[in-house]
Amino acid sequence: MNYCVIGLQWGDEGKGKIVDILAEDCDIVVRYSGGANAGHTVVVGDSRFALHLLPSGSVRPASICVIANGVVVDPACLVEEIETLRKKGITFQDRLFISENAHVVLDYHKKEDQLSESFLGKKKLGTTSRGIGPCYADKVGRSHAVRMGDLRKLEGLKEKLQRIVDYKNKIFSALYNAEPISADEIFEKCRGYADHFSPYITNTTRFLHKAVVENKTILFEGAQGTLLDLDHGTFPFVTSSNSSALGLPAGCGMPAKIVDRFLGVAKAYTTRVGAGPFPTEQDNEIGQGIRQKGGEYGTTTGRPRRCGWFDAVATAYSVSIGGIDSVALMHLDTLTGLKELKVCRAYEIDGKQTTFFTSDAAELSRAECVYETLKGWDEDITGLTKFADLPAKARSYVTFVERLLKKPISIIGVGPKRNQIIFR
Ligand code: GDP
Ligand code: IMO
Ligand code: MG
Repeated sequence: MNYCVIGLQWGDEGKGKIVDILAEDCDIVVRYSGGANAGHTVVVGDSRFALHLLPSGSVRPASICVIANGVVVDPACLVEEIETLRKKGITFQDRLFISENAHVVLDYHKKEDQLSESFLGKKKLGTTSRGIGPCYADKVGRSHAVRMGDLRKLEGLKEKLQRIVDYKNKIFSALYNAEPISADEIFEKCRGYADHFSPYITNTTRFLHKAVVENKTILFEGAQGTLLDLDHGTFPFVTSSNSSALGLPAGCGMPAKIVDRFLGVAKAYTTRVGAGPFPTEQDNEIGQGIRQKGGEYGTTTGRPRRCGWFDAVATAYSVSIGGIDSVALMHLDTLTGLKELKVCRAYEIDGKQTTFFTSDAAELSRAECVYETLKGWDEDITGLTKFADLPAKARSYVTFVERLLKKPISIIGVGPKRNQIIFR
């Protein structure tokens, strides 16, 4: 079975945990979109890993890890991540493959991201400041792009960086009155990255196609979530890649039909970091309670996540967009103790009821939620491994959501650890 794991909300659904679990039965784990804006958490025993660029299969020493062409790679972050894992006894020799066509995030991208956000002030997008948008913009613009393969041609890279940095400095000075950056410094860093990563850089498309011929099983790890998709999310409050399942083929050079099962991951409630419309948001005691209980603070930036009720309209849209076969519903344990639970089953926009999601941010911000209220439960569910053992009210909650999504909920998360999971 080849799986693809996709976030169905605005990111942070618990993809890392699901990928880590599925990786046990797969040969290869592939990241194919986004960059170090992602923060995927894997908890193994007492160890907690926060992965930004390495696939979440990394913590299993037998997993082959691929960072494919659709990812924007911040080499400084990747060096740090590999070093953190090395200290825990996890190494990557002969099992990490980075696409020569993946674009490189450099210091000027991060600087541009930060300058642009502070320039926007109250209108900012609330990015992760990881240089994602500026790097993808350079990819699409072509003339000022650096790819991982360029690290193997240092002479050419030196000239290219000089030209790019001259151009960027003109923009920094004219638009933002900001200090210039040094091309020499960036080049010296790239020389270090070249030493570090040359053994890993390869044609990952060829590698993956060969793996298919050899009957290897592949797990594709989505980053972010469908509602943050550049084309299908709540634009402009999105990320700069196709973070829905639709990003997979272009992001790694494999046809979508290579995937046997698209597994969508959603939380039993909703969270969002950064700006943008969020119809079910509970900016009140309920939201605060969920944040506290669920530990809802960004894995990448530490920002408090905005919290709200489960939005079946938005999640069903993501299920359709992604051709999702089944759903993992995470953090059911976080809802324990709430007397009543609400699920949004329709929107009312400008006086009209609809169950079809709108990705138009202005329209979505006018959406009033039509809620169904369900009863909560008090029993501790964090040690359960069977669906039948869940309190009846928790089972009702799951089956109610399932009916609205029209796809089976095959996995239920009842805690952050590997074994805190129910397969149905
Ligand atoms: P990702 O970006 O989709 O991989 O998700 P994050 O790692 O950013 O955020 C999910 C958080 O929830 C992490 O801290 C996980 O350890 C934690 N987590 C995952 N599944 C569950 C669950 O079922 N219950 C609880 N309580 N925590 C979970
Ligand atoms: P994972 O993979 C949650 C959000 C940012 C911001 C918007 C644009 O851990 O689910 P960017 O830095 O990408 O230009 O920011 O997208 N965002 C995420 N939110 N989880 C993520 O990744 C995210 N990656 C980006 O908060 O609103
Ligand atoms: Mg995350």
